[in-house]
Amino acid sequence: MIKLSEYAKRRKDFMQQVGPSGVVIIASAPERPRNGDAFYPYRQNSDFYYLTGFEEPEAVLVLAPKRKEGEFILFNRVRDRDHEIWDGPRAGQEGAVHDFQADQSFPISQLNDLLPEFLIGRETIHYTLGLNRDFDKTLLNNLNKVRGKIRGGLQSPNGFIDISNLHEMRLLKSASEIAVMQKAVDITHKAHVRAMAFCKPGVYEYQLEAELMYEFQRNGARSPAYNSIVGSGRNTCILHYISNNQKIADGDLVLIDAGAEYQNYAADITRTFPANGKFTSEQRAVYDIVLEAQLAAIKSIKPGASWVSAQDIIVKIMTQGLVDLGILKGSVETLIEKEAYLPYYMHRSGHWLGLDVHDVGRYRVHTKWRPLEQGMVFTVEPGLYLSSDIPGLAKRWHHIGVRIEDNVVVTEKGHQVLSNSIPKTVTEIEALMAN
Ligand code: GLY
Ligand code: MN
Ligand code: MN
Repeated sequence: MIKLSEYAKRRKDFMQQVGPSGVVIIASAPERPRNGDAFYPYRQNSDFYYLTGFEEPEAVLVLAPKRKEGEFILFNRVRDRDHEIWDGPRAGQEGAVHDFQADQSFPISQLNDLLPEFLIGRETIHYTLGLNRDFDKTLLNNLNKVRGKIRGGLQSPNGFIDISNLHEMRLLKSASEIAVMQKAVDITHKAHVRAMAFCKPGVYEYQLEAELMYEFQRNGARSPAYNSIVGSGRNTCILHYISNNQKIADGDLVLIDAGAEYQNYAADITRTFPANGKFTSEQRAVYDIVLEAQLAAIKSIKPGASWVSAQDIIVKIMTQGLVDLGILKGSVETLIEKEAYLPYYMHRSGHWLGLDVHDVGRYRVHTKWRPLEQGMVFTVEPGLYLSSDIPGLAKRWHHIGVRIEDNVVVTEKGHQVLSNSIPKTVTEIEALMAN
């Protein structure tokens, strides 16, 4: 659980970076209609949540550094008995102040009357244009109102700045964020183990998905962090396969890429296993190459190591592995130079992980891959995808798609794998499935 004091510290740190000439404006995520009067489950905008912990829709956060009447302003819904009978309680203005520590809270219906006041006298608006076109319009309309007033000698903002400084803050996780992410991973651990234990030839991919969802939900993760990928056979070679509607056959590999979202933080874990509990020799050979690459990449993680070194290690080991299997021919060095591995491994080593599954934060600084720092959390997820669509690939390799994905934190001296104890070696997986 992230404490209110941590949200307060984040706001303070961010406002320090923004400075008194700027104002920060972040709208809550819009509600998304599904059909008729039914809506998709609501998920707060991650930036908004990071700075407030506030999960209601129809809200706007304003941070106005050094403003006398208060720096943290929340526009949010009023309490309303008629709506609350149907949809449950709302914080209202009193709750925004008492429960979320807003300095001031105004009804969202007053946004257009009051927003100009927060823009006057500021030079820059820290707001990411283009993500929410409806709110872009609201903001630009209010900016125009302010421009109309500058004849009176008032300063009006003359530029927008993306919320990228906030994203650099989000990239470095605190101890309490890592604890929440560990919980997301622990729930995901149970889910993967349950699905593996349940699996046998003849069940449908969606039945494994149901086993995952069961563990997620009963452990307090009300949603997956992204659509669960449960692919068997040829579907293991489709990177973001989410149809999950095929019957699993004897001899198939099954690839599950699924992570719980807990208190809005994501886990993102992949395991690949044989449907009948025993790897074939071909499946095992490919699996062990991916595992070797993953373990070597993880081993290299420490502060100061380059973001790209995991990818370089993976490419090297997997290219060597493809040569050893006879799938690629030639010198490993030349094959890497020519990117001969691309038909089999077409993605990168991983991505930042946090409130978003593909979390925010730059990967390069001034065109150079950035060095790792303590508190960064990311995935390491090499994969080999031996699709029958690859010209010339011998039949015995067809439909072997293997990805192994873990979630890793950079620590003071090295790294910690949050998902370390989820069965991963051939021996561990076969033992689990034999029971
Ligand atoms: N689950 C999506 C990914 O691994 O990036
Ligand atoms: Mn994944
Ligand atoms: Mn991932």
